Amino acid sequence: MRRIPTGSSGGATGWWRAAAIYQIYVRSFADADGDGTGDLAGVRERLPWLAALGIDAVWLTPFYDSPMADGGYDVADYRAVDPRFGTLADFDRMLATAHGLGLRVIVDIVPNHTSSEHRWFAEALEAGPGSAARKRYIFRDGRGPDGAEPPNDWPSIFGGRAWTRLRRPDGTPEEWYLHLFDPAQPDLNWDNPEVRAEFEDVLRFWLDRGVDGFRIDVAHGLVKPEGLPDMPKGYELSRPDNREMRRPYFDQDGVHEIYRQWRRILDSYPGERVAVAEAKAATPARAALYLRPDELHQAFNFDYLGAPWQAPVLRRIIDASLQANASVDAPTTWALSNHDVVRQVTRFGGGEPGLRRARAAALLTLALPGAVYLYQGEELGLPEVLDLPEEVLEDPAWERSGRTDRGRDGCRVPLPWEGPTAPFGFGPVGTKPWLPVPEGWRRLSREVQASTPGSTLELYTTALRLRRELPALGAGTGGIDWLSDPAADVLTFARSPGFACVVNFGAMPIRPPLAGEPLLSSAPVAAEDDGSIRVPPDTAVWLRAAAAA
Ligand code: NOJ
Repeated sequence: MRRIPTGSSGGATGWWRAAAIYQIYVRSFADADGDGTGDLAGVRERLPWLAALGIDAVWLTPFYDSPMADGGYDVADYRAVDPRFGTLADFDRMLATAHGLGLRVIVDIVPNHTSSEHRWFAEALEAGPGSAARKRYIFRDGRGPDGAEPPNDWPSIFGGRAWTRLRRPDGTPEEWYLHLFDPAQPDLNWDNPEVRAEFEDVLRFWLDRGVDGFRIDVAHGLVKPEGLPDMPKGYELSRPDNREMRRPYFDQDGVHEIYRQWRRILDSYPGERVAVAEAKAATPARAALYLRPDELHQAFNFDYLGAPWQAPVLRRIIDASLQANASVDAPTTWALSNHDVVRQVTRFGGGEPGLRRARAAALLTLALPGAVYLYQGEELGLPEVLDLPEEVLEDPAWERSGRTDRGRDGCRVPLPWEGPTAPFGFGPVGTKPWLPVPEGWRRLSREVQASTPGSTLELYTTALRLRRELPALGAGTGGIDWLSDPAADVLTFARSPGFACVVNFGAMPIRPPLAGEPLLSSAPVAAEDDGSIRVPPDTAVWLRAAAAA
């Protein structure tokens, strides 16, 4: 049995620096009890598959007690498992199985907001203005005569305004409360020491149960600016790609003290417990601040995740990320998708061309130095489901946007595992999943792909194995050496010892600028009479490259 490695003296291995971490969106992974929602027992049953895929750790999205107004990112009790997902005993069994298979387990923590059904929020409503219970959240009087205008003009991320006004039982209006997301997700007041103490205790609760780390939801949002100022002038006109970061409530300097304290807690436990931040910042340099040696271990690389399929853009992002993270001696992370974005097959063009690019992108990603996050189903090449019937849509963005934004359900459709009919083994026979699984996904099921040479599942499994075996890959010993021109339609880089990756983004086949034996390619490559190869369009090749040693 594979065991979790420790350093020779049982000390630090820095396992997280090069780990391949697989994101399990629990609702849609595997449903053991057939109620239509994935659960922890389902995760446990399928863990051997993930071990065979060759990953090092899993990150589980929230499975805590929740009314599910935002898929579980609205937590009503941070120490309880929602009955839909199982029990604490199911969690413990799942964790033990994962550890037995050599897989580490990272759980989600949602500190920016609670559910409106959290005990604290009920107490705040009950206790009324000025009470200690209200000071755990952000309540304010409104502006204007009668306080009928919200305290400021902040928009909610899900559409509409970020404030909701309370009413007394007799209908009289009173204070407003802040919710950067849905009204069912009131923002906590992180200036209140009681809030800080509570989350430190929640961290310890899960660390004591044996989790290997945390993914921190909206890590950049906890601390709000003094005086809650209005949005900057011209905000709506700013470029969409940096508009989000101009919101005054993101990436305030005050968040760092919170993470320094969390790091002290993580370090007080044996076994290298880690934290990865969902931290959005305006520049790679600002994002790197979360990764100073006394703060968090990793942060998601949203610039890479959101990049178009264009070599010069990707190269700029790769260089900027590596450089910023090197400045704080932190590994870079790479991901192509998660449960909040359109799946890469669709983002990169859809259909066969999209799949072809997504496969090439996977080899590019897995060849870069640092840790990699994989989102469930990308190893099967799943596309976004664009035609979910309106009546099944659950993402709050759908209603909050006045039914103009269909939201993120299309990347959350349950996984196809095996069998001839939908939902393809997601649950026991007869299970009606919370989102319908397309009939056409039979050919994408894990079972079919496991016996199909050249399948996307085979590509990922082989790439993950080579990534572990080849000393140049994973964290590697050095950075990357570019062998292609920055403006070219190709990315070629070498990593020492003896490895090169060539990705052709152009319309014509190319000949790699160095000789080498192909180890793996995302599509078949043709060999010429002289032994050299041609890399076709939208294809990545890994080479054993003598010249790069
Ligand atoms: C980020 C999570 O990934 C997303 O799914 C959620 O809606 C928001 N944070 C709010 O918690």
